[in-house]
Amino acid sequence: MSDSAERAAWLRSQIAAHNEAYFVRDTPLIPDADYDELVRELRDLEQQDPSLVEPTSPSQTVGAAPDSAFRSITHSEAMLSLDNVFDESELRAWAERVSRALDLDPADIAFAVEPKIDGLALSIHYESGQLAWAATRGDGRTGEDVSANVRTVASVPASIGALSGALDVRGEVFLTKAAFLELNRVQRERAEREFANPRNAAAGSLRQKNAAVTAERALSFLAYQVVDRSNALGVMSQGALLAALAERGFLVAEDARVVVGVDAMVERSSWFEVHRHDLAFDVDGAVIKVDDFALRSRLGSTSRAPRWAIARKFPPEERTTRLLAIEVSIGRTGRATPFAVLEPVVVAGSTVSLATLHNADQVALKDVRPGDVVVVRKAGDVIPEVVGAVIDPTVERGEPWTFPSVCPECGGPLVRLGDERDSYCVNPTCPAQLLQQIAHFASRGALDIEGLGEQRAAQLIEAGLVADVADLFDLDVAALEQLEGMGAVSAAALVGAIKRAKVQPLSRLLVAIGIRHVGPVAARALATWFTSYAALVEAPLSELEAIDGVGPVIAASVFQFVRSPEVIERMARLADAGLTLIEPSIGSLDQTLAGRAVVVTGSVPGFTREAAEAAIVARGGTSPGTVSAKTYCVVVGDAPGTSKLTKARTLGVPLVSGDEFEALLVSGTWRTTIARDEETVL
Ligand code: IVH
Repeated sequence: MSDSAERAAWLRSQIAAHNEAYFVRDTPLIPDADYDELVRELRDLEQQDPSLVEPTSPSQTVGAAPDSAFRSITHSEAMLSLDNVFDESELRAWAERVSRALDLDPADIAFAVEPKIDGLALSIHYESGQLAWAATRGDGRTGEDVSANVRTVASVPASIGALSGALDVRGEVFLTKAAFLELNRVQRERAEREFANPRNAAAGSLRQKNAAVTAERALSFLAYQVVDRSNALGVMSQGALLAALAERGFLVAEDARVVVGVDAMVERSSWFEVHRHDLAFDVDGAVIKVDDFALRSRLGSTSRAPRWAIARKFPPEERTTRLLAIEVSIGRTGRATPFAVLEPVVVAGSTVSLATLHNADQVALKDVRPGDVVVVRKAGDVIPEVVGAVIDPTVERGEPWTFPSVCPECGGPLVRLGDERDSYCVNPTCPAQLLQQIAHFASRGALDIEGLGEQRAAQLIEAGLVADVADLFDLDVAALEQLEGMGAVSAAALVGAIKRAKVQPLSRLLVAIGIRHVGPVAARALATWFTSYAALVEAPLSELEAIDGVGPVIAASVFQFVRSPEVIERMARLADAGLTLIEPSIGSLDQTLAGRAVVVTGSVPGFTREAAEAAIVARGGTSPGTVSAKTYCVVVGDAPGTSKLTKARTLGVPLVSGDEFEALLVSGTWRTTIARDEETVL
């Protein structure tokens, strides 16, 4: 056998094993992106040498044969898969092929752009408008009879009105992210196996022998296709189809759009990538379909996938790589956090070589060991983490990792305090702690000193210029100029930025000085209550506890913190340096929102709902609970309410991201609004 024939045979056997794990056992062994890469490699080999193609090649087949535990059902028409593209240029190349085959200008073709839901495909057969049976995709030709289970899914209508003949409605069964978290919470409570992700949970829930179990799970079904030979629905385009399905009681993707031309199509598919984390369900890409059914039939299908549709896969959020070592880093409170040193791998579009392991218990629980192949995950803005090891029983593993007993930075002891999960370096002069304290002190959410990041802080410590955050205010241009890479101009800029930090409000200072458990919300509550640091220091514990937004844990932490001799000395030095240590009172705030109604939906980072409303009122505005034509803008936080969003869109009220809320308070305006979709709404 030639090298490539051997490689192709190996790839085929790997892919078959992964198909079985994914489609039949609902327990994938590797992330989807790693699987896609195997398929891609095989396809490339087959393209170079078509004699390597076999009938069982994944390039010729779909899914895996059904599990014998379920009765099998033959689909009235094969359930095909989709071909994938992985970036914009591949997507444009597909559109180019489509336009050539149709002999149409790419600018004139209408495309439906839909989310690619990461669930499992289902075909539901209706006879005279009544649900007759439902089957999984299986190998595309025959699937598993899951009718009894599907009848328990709330978003699957049992009856879809008077329709003569037969109709198959196809779509995806899935769990929303919220339903997935809730299911795993229940599983934990019952000491049962948790699911790795919403897709596995949905598959495991649908393929239950006992429909009563399925009924307990909050499965949803999203419809996107029909087999309708007699055209009972009377539609000739994807846009019209989705509208007809919605009318008959099916759930359809509310963000699906029909757009005209390749540029608009590419842009809309990118919209899903940007917003993937805002959707209620997991998506792994966008699906682009030629809208017009007549054009579709001219394009036709291969044995595996239609030529009129394509899946644009987003950068994977999970990949495997090798764990080279486990090390610990020391934070500003001295907390020792284990992290993984990885063979660099591209995850979610950026190269990851370090990933957090959270704490010693997590390392033990995940049982990851240096030398293992591990799954790395990076979702959205979340910092990369190691999910777990991919165990190969034929390979001998290294020894389990043990937590170090000394600080890697200063050599001091690492101790586990009381019932804390974490270990701490308790050396108060540990340089690693000081570095993190300075970086945090100067960070955006704290005193916001521009030009003072971790690197600069390390230089200042190294040069012996700063041994405490209070020393920052003694720095002068002459001293800073001595540092490498620091000219007179940047030295003066840094001194200026430090000087400006002196008038930052108390709420920011309380964040900056790093009181355990005190984040921006508690800091603001404390600062507005006391208005000065002097008053805060005097307060009895009972008064701290009584403040809205300050629980007993925070109160005790603050009470203890302000009494520590070290802190007393630092705060006296900060006061001497000219820090104002006060919270400007509400009356003195600029009335940037005078007479304006600002509606807040979802949670805004750093604010409780009450605090956000109070902040608007403090700037002269109002914060009503509903959107009207008079609303100045809608601030969209995490998990916003869809009715407010829809109303705002309908009325043309600007949508402002929650990240811009602080800037809105200060300036009364915003830099950008959340793009409103100009495309045709289905
Ligand atoms: S259309 C013949 N639309 O992705 C084409 N599929 O990787 C049928 N999927 O088998 C598929 N969201 O299970 C289509 N909006 C969407 C989809 C979608 C998810 C799934 C479907 C398909 C698989 C291909």
